[in-house]
Amino acid sequence: MARPSNQESIHPLKLFDIAKNEKRLLYTSAPMVRYSKLAFRQTVHHYGTDLCWTPMILAKEFNRNKFARDSDFTISTAGPQPPTIVQFGANVPQELARASSLVAPFASGVDLNCGCPQSWACSSTLGAALMEKRELVRDMVIETRERLQQDGWDVGLEKDMNNPKGRSVSIKIRVHKDLRKTIDFITTLLAPCPTTSSRPVDFLTIHPRTRQTPSSAPINVEALSILTSTFGDQVPILLSGDVFTLDSLPFTSPIHTFTSSSSSSSSSSSPSQQQAPSDITALVQHDIPKLSGLMSARALLANPALFSGRNSCPWEAVEFFLNKTIKAPMPFKLVLHHISEMCSPGMGPDPRDRSALLNKQERAELMRCGDMIELIDFLEEKKPGGLERTI
Ligand SMILES: Cc1cc2nc3c(=O)[nH]c(=O)nc-3n(C[C@H](O)[C@H](O)[C@H](O)COP(=O)(O)O)c2cc1C
Repeated sequence: MARPSNQESIHPLKLFDIAKNEKRLLYTSAPMVRYSKLAFRQTVHHYGTDLCWTPMILAKEFNRNKFARDSDFTISTAGPQPPTIVQFGANVPQELARASSLVAPFASGVDLNCGCPQSWACSSTLGAALMEKRELVRDMVIETRERLQQDGWDVGLEKDMNNPKGRSVSIKIRVHKDLRKTIDFITTLLAPCPTTSSRPVDFLTIHPRTRQTPSSAPINVEALSILTSTFGDQVPILLSGDVFTLDSLPFTSPIHTFTSSSSSSSSSSSPSQQQAPSDITALVQHDIPKLSGLMSARALLANPALFSGRNSCPWEAVEFFLNKTIKAPMPFKLVLHHISEMCSPGMGPDPRDRSALLNKQERAELMRCGDMIELIDFLEEKKPGGLERTI
């Protein structure tokens, strides 16, 4: 199906609809503090990611401080933006509504972080602490919808998905140890607004780990299965967690019959830092028919081309990213971190996908580059055939 030409304001529900018509899951890149900045979002979008999240931005600071606004949220003025969801950390309805009003002209939607497990966030009733405050979360999303509507945006869910002024309001959650609490939480969030008689969130991202589960432990596929069968007919649901490659998901889905298109890379292979299972088929016990899409964080950092079907990072993605950082600058140390991630072993369970563009010693050398010129010279030397001349 043809995509609407005005990508800048494409409605996320339209993207879900396009993916569904293409008989596939929606592909999204996760909010990642520090990392999911514009150049990275542009890179993953170029390689098949449909919808990109910004890092979590603290709504209160964003509303009050011009420097916070300038440093936290960058958009492209040249060419279309990747469809972008701006994620906020907030615990006051008015703060989330005001911050959302500021970014609505430049984004496809806004999202509330109800999943950050870090103690600084939870002690301020932000992130995962909100999983214990379902009424507050509901008040926040309802007030945000009302504010966006007052500003002239259209927040009528599916009714507005073809509307260039349509915007989404969504949340990203973790699960509770007692899944009944998560079911209560989502039930509260989906109950129709008294004024509009429709659900207050456009879609939902579920990270099926509890606040206490380390990210090295596998996601709780059973919880995902229960939650999608309970709510998947009422609201589109994205999975965040353990999307390492497209052909190694720990569950099956009738709209995901993917076979990997390539296994690129060169150089030496070293064991992945991550604990992806080596025989994924042994773990596949669930079919998740009501899941609408995938969100990846760590695996996209290591391989921004993941959603184009590659199981490890190709050199051309490193180069594409480098080009974008020159036009959408970010602190040099951050550029180095990104390049180092991309040149490290991939995260797929198949040992063939764990090859790395640079070996450990080369990556240590990479980290000693002092500026962009040194970095370009270094990569020029390491990439077979040298870098393209566009840089
Ligand atoms: C470096 C990093 C930063 C993150 N920052 C955020 C964030 O700002 N907001 C959020 O909701 N989740 C954040 N997360 C969590 C991810 O979005 C995601 O839910 C989690 O990493 C599981 O996905 P994965 O297995 O694909 O990594 C972050 C994760 C990482 C690795």
